[in-house]
Amino acid sequence: MVEWIQDLDKKARPVPSRQSGARILMLMTSLDISNNYNIDPDNVQTLGRYQIICQLGQGATGIVYLVWDPFIRRNVALKVAKTETDKFRENFLAEAQSAGRLSHPNIVAVYDAGSENDFCYIAMEYIKGATLENFCRKENLLPPNKGLEAILEVCKGLEYAHREGVIHRDIKPSNILLNLDGSAKITDFGVAQMTDRTFTTSIRGTPHYLSPEQVKDEIVSFQSDIFALGCVLYEILAGEKAFPGENSYGVLYKITSTEPRSILSIRSDLPKVLDEIVRKAIRKDPSERYQSCAEMAAELDVALRGIVASPRNLEKSKEVADYFQNLSFFADFKKEQLSELTALANIVKFPGGKVVASEGEIDDTFYIILSGQVKVRKGEKDIATIGTGECFGEMAFLGGQPRVANVAAEGDCVLMKITAALLQKLPDSVGLLFFRSFARTLVQRLSKNLEERN
Ligand SMILES: Nc1ncnc2c1ncn2[C@@H]1O[C@H](COP(=O)(O)OP(=O)(O)OP(=O)(O)O)[C@@H](O)[C@H]1O
Ligand SMILES: [Mg+2]
Repeated sequence: MVEWIQDLDKKARPVPSRQSGARILMLMTSLDISNNYNIDPDNVQTLGRYQIICQLGQGATGIVYLVWDPFIRRNVALKVAKTETDKFRENFLAEAQSAGRLSHPNIVAVYDAGSENDFCYIAMEYIKGATLENFCRKENLLPPNKGLEAILEVCKGLEYAHREGVIHRDIKPSNILLNLDGSAKITDFGVAQMTDRTFTTSIRGTPHYLSPEQVKDEIVSFQSDIFALGCVLYEILAGEKAFPGENSYGVLYKITSTEPRSILSIRSDLPKVLDEIVRKAIRKDPSERYQSCAEMAAELDVALRGIVASPRNLEKSKEVADYFQNLSFFADFKKEQLSELTALANIVKFPGGKVVASEGEIDDTFYIILSGQVKVRKGEKDIATIGTGECFGEMAFLGGQPRVANVAAEGDCVLMKITAALLQKLPDSVGLLFFRSFARTLVQRLSKNLEERN
């Protein structure tokens, strides 16, 4: 570990609570270890305007903290890096600016960036969840359909960034965050570009996802991101790296000169088409790879349908479907339709008190409560309690309007999360059943409202 990281971390230990001690220290100054500002390290509680809550993790470039932004009143992830040269600072801020212009549901939003004394920071959207790195080990792999769904979302985010002319250059599992609701978000656009431009000759962090052209210091293109994404796909399916090695040199040699073994030799249950997709994404020659992430996504989508329809998977989701069939929302669904749906849908557990949907947000997701109940609030007022077998969020889904109320879990609850994109993947007949259930729900709510008024 780099020494300054140890020092920085020591000085910014998590504070017990963001309310405790109102003393505002200019952390950027206090962290300048070499200048010896006579600062008491135990009192370091803020970083610029951000109040440190705890450390979220650290990488080769810096430390990421969970902080509280008192102006906007929200939690934010703050990445802090030591400014090594003026050029570093210039690139860091310029690239944070370009990353800040990217706005996409599958890209971590950048809110703010700055530098003070020897440090630069980027404030970004805080993702409560885990990085894909946690699901790259054999003992902790995601079910293949969930892994593919995450990679499909990364494809969407990257396709958008590429259209905006931005190459990530550092796609790897630790730069893909999985939200608690199962959606995937790409992070480190700014830092990745900065790192690459500033340190072309020395490799920081892990080299396992570098494309052959990056290794050879040749022209980097959108296809370099596709190569890296192919390596990530390999890893989340196989539970091992596409280009493993004892040391960086071994890895780099493999990237430029060898082919990884087939994922089918590691996991024979995967469809052959996935092996073909991975191989196409990681071709040595960029012109032989997918020419866009949209192209790769289209093939992944076909593979996903194949996996969902596989006899083993359908068997498993049939068992789950048995349980859901008793819920009122699914009253009109046939068992096969329900198992097709459960194979594709995200089922998410929310702890009591956790906000599931917020007033004002624009989102096409709706939820069906599989167990437990949620509370609907508008401002300070409780509007309704919705229980097992009912749905919520359908108005925003149907009308495309911002959400009109907050919804929070009341006690632990399990929700089925449905997006417009998921509905498109289902046969029209299943889509119609959803609309029938929506209509029934709306009529029931309307008549309940009328009863209460009378
Ligand atoms: N926006 C975020 N929300 C929540 N956690 C985050 C966020 N960004 C990063 N993290 C956490 O911080 C950790 C460190 O991230 P960081 O980007 O510094 O390291 P890395 O990706 O492993 O390496 P590198 O420095 O090469 O990017 C991540 O693994 C993740 O757990
Ligand atoms: Mg990172």
